[in-house]
Amino acid sequence: MDVLQAIKERKSIRAFKPDQVPLDLLKKILDDAMRAPSWANTQPWEFAVVTGKKLKAIQDAFVKRGPSAMPGSQSEVPRPYVFPEPFASRIKKMQIKERRGRTSELSKEEMEKKMLINFTNYGATTCIYLLMDKSYYKQEKGINVWGMYDSGSAVQNIMLLAVNYGLGTIAQAMAVVYPDLIRQEIDIPQDKCLALGIAIGYPDWDNEVTKDFRDREPLDTMVKFYGF
Ligand SMILES: Cc1cc2nc3c(=O)[nH]c(=O)nc-3n(C[C@H](O)[C@H](O)[C@H](O)COP(=O)(O)O)c2cc1C
Repeated sequence: MDVLQAIKERKSIRAFKPDQVPLDLLKKILDDAMRAPSWANTQPWEFAVVTGKKLKAIQDAFVKRGPSAMPGSQSEVPRPYVFPEPFASRIKKMQIKERRGRTSELSKEEMEKKMLINFTNYGATTCIYLLMDKSYYKQEKGINVWGMYDSGSAVQNIMLLAVNYGLGTIAQAMAVVYPDLIRQEIDIPQDKCLALGIAIGYPDWDNEVTKDFRDREPLDTMVKFYGF
């Protein structure tokens, strides 16, 4: 598969089959993904790949604590709380499409259901946690965003390579909202920041939600060319 096809086919998958992704394939994907560029080749990313009983225990613990505990979430990479325009409108547009044209707010029950599915990694059999050294991420002058750029490139590589092998992925901020529950199951040192979860598995193409495809703003809105 060429890069263009992988970029065009990649999308966030929100329903997975129960089939296990072979360990060798995960190793190959991660090894190749780490060809990503980084500041002076610092390679600030680390990954913890979790499956089986360990992942199930994390998912169960998240579900047990529940979405109502979220405002007190211990996310080690803080989420944005303010969405100025045009970002708020883009979220709204996405939500209306996702709700098949329905414009009313989600009820509390619907919202909680959505969160709980997130907590089960949408049924994916494997979750790849992105880790970053806290001393590199949090520096005297503030957050070191450069390390996250670098890691974002590696994460995108994972997602594109997954497409190449018939796999699906979804980046999930929601998968790391309770880092203490993850640390109860796997040995993540306190000096590493749990930055993101990437659910990976075989997409359940029979499920309606895997047919969703999210639009992008047109090129002219986002890009200006100079000196041509
Ligand atoms: C850093 C990051 C975190 C995300 N967290 C979540 C999440 O917790 N739950 C979720 O359903 N989608 C999550 N997404 C997926 C985005 O909603 C999705 O990428 C966006 O709507 C565009 O859709 P597409 O990936 O299908 O093109 C996340 C994406 C990124 C890049």
